[in-house]
Amino acid sequence: MTLRDGTTFSTSKDTLLEDLEAHNISIEYHCREGFCGACRCKIVSGEVDYTTDPLAFIDDDEILPCCTVAVSDLTLDI
Ligand code: FES
Repeated sequence: MTLRDGTTFSTSKDTLLEDLEAHNISIEYHCREGFCGACRCKIVSGEVDYTTDPLAFIDDDEILPCCTVAVSDLTLDI
């Protein structure tokens, strides 16, 4: 995963939110289950799979890191 500031790290089988936390990168979150939308962020490139159907509204260029896993190299606007 690559972030806006150039930080890069490998993703795991955990959610992207857990991967970010494991690398001491804090983003907003609340429900951790795809309901609230607090963790919403823009995806610049790459693909994710959802671990659960998200109920929060997101635009086409946004993802919910709390309920997604990486399925390719990712660049996030975080
Ligand atoms: S933390 Fe609520 S949707 Fe991700």
